[in-house]
Amino acid sequence: MTTEPIHLGEEFLQDPHQLYTRLRADVAVAPALLPHGLRVWIVSRYDDAKAALADPRLLKNSVRQQELSARQAAETNSVPVITEFLNSHMLNTDPPDHTRLRELVNKAFTSRRVAGLRPRMAEIAGRLLDAMPSDGVVDLLEALAYPLPITVICELLGVPEGDRSDFRAWSATLLNTGVSDADLAAASTAMVSYIDDLVAAKEKAPGEDLISALVEARESGDRLSSGELRAMVFVLLVGGHETMVNLIGNGTLALLNNPAQLAALRADPSLLPAAIEEFLRYEGPVNFATFRFTDEEVTIGGVTVPEGEFVVIALASANRDAARFPDADSVDIGRSTARHLAFGHGVHYCVGAHLARAQAEVAFGQLIARFPSMTLAVDPAELTWRHSTLMRGLESLPIRLG
Ligand code: HEM
Repeated sequence: MTTEPIHLGEEFLQDPHQLYTRLRADVAVAPALLPHGLRVWIVSRYDDAKAALADPRLLKNSVRQQELSARQAAETNSVPVITEFLNSHMLNTDPPDHTRLRELVNKAFTSRRVAGLRPRMAEIAGRLLDAMPSDGVVDLLEALAYPLPITVICELLGVPEGDRSDFRAWSATLLNTGVSDADLAAASTAMVSYIDDLVAAKEKAPGEDLISALVEARESGDRLSSGELRAMVFVLLVGGHETMVNLIGNGTLALLNNPAQLAALRADPSLLPAAIEEFLRYEGPVNFATFRFTDEEVTIGGVTVPEGEFVVIALASANRDAARFPDADSVDIGRSTARHLAFGHGVHYCVGAHLARAQAEVAFGQLIARFPSMTLAVDPAELTWRHSTLMRGLESLPIRLG
C-alpha cells in the first residue's frame, strides 16, 4: 500500500462524511493519522465494516494494544496514546475473557429488565421537560440529552447523586481528542479515585444495584479481578451516557433539519421506533468503533493491512454506504434500516442496545408531544461538533420551544 496516511483534523471532526464519501468510492481501507498521531487503517464500506466487526483476526486485547501504541510512539519519538488506564474492560478483551466479563452484566440489560425501567425513565424525562420553559430557547443537550441518561445509568449502577457533574466533565475529557496530556492525566486520576470510592462504598453497604452485584462477583471466586471491576464500572458509566446524549442530540437535529419528517412522526407516533433506527443510521452516536488490531497480515476489501496495525471501522461511513442504504445521505424515517451498524456487530455488539432504544423512545416521544412547534434556534452552520473521533455529537443544540 503506497497511499500516504490521511491526517484527520478539525475538518474531519466537523464533517467526517465528506471524507467518507470519497473513501467509499476510492479505496476500501485507507491508512490515516488520528489527531493525536496514532496510525490507523479506516474501513469505510458497509460490507467490509460488517465483516471486520466480526472478524476473529482483528483483536482487542488491552495489553497488546498498549504494546502496539508504545511501538508506534518509539518509531515517532512521541508519547504512547493508549495506556493501561481503566482499559481492561470488555471492549478491550477477546474471548474467552470477553465472554466471562459480558456474562456478568448481560442479564441486567435484557429487554425484560429494560421494560421494567420504562416508568422510571418516563418520570425522569417528564421532570426534565417540566423544568423547561414553555417558550424561549434552551440547549437541549443540557436540558435533556445529558441529564436523562446520566440519571438512568447512575440509578442502575447505584451511583448516588451529588458529584455526577464532575464525572461528566472527566468523561468528556477522556473521550475527546486534542486534550493536553496534563488534562488527560488529571481526568484519569480523578476518574480512578471516583470509581474506587464508589466500589469501596458498595463493599461497606451493598445494595440492589449493579455495582454491588459486581463486587459480589469479585468476592465470590475468580470471575472478576479488581482491575476488571473498576474498568467495568467505567465502561458502563461512560458507554451508558455519552452515546445516549448524541442519539438524543443528533436525532433531534435530524428532525429539525427535515420538517416534513418531523411532521410525519407527529402525525403518526407509531413511527417512532423506526425513526430512532433511522437516527442511529443517519448520524449515529459512535463515529469509529473502538480500536481493533491485526496480529497477522489481514486483507480487507482487497487491501492488505500489515501485522501489528490498528484498524478502525467507520460505523458512520458504513451506515451511509449507498450500496446498502439507497439515498443514504437523506433522512427518511420510513426506510428500511435493517442491519445498520450503529450498535456494532458480532461479540461486542452493544450490551446496552435495548436500554438505549427504550430510553430514546421515552425521550423523543415526550419531547415531540410536549413541544409541538420546536425549531432550531440557530443557523445549522453555527452548530459545532465535539472534538472526538470516537463519538459523533454536538457541542450544544439550542432549540426554540414555542
Ligand atoms: C444509542 C446509544 C448507544 C450506541 C449507539 C452504542 C454503540 C455501541 C457500539 C457501536 C458498540 C460496539 C463497539 C465496538 O465493537 O467497537 C457498543 C458496545 C458497548 N456498549 Fe453501547 N451504545 C449505546 C448505548 C449504550 C448504553 C446505554 C450502554 C449501557 C450499559 C452501553 C454499553 C456498552 C458496552 C458495555 C459495550 C461493550 C460490549 C462488548 O464489548 O461486548 N451502550 N455500544
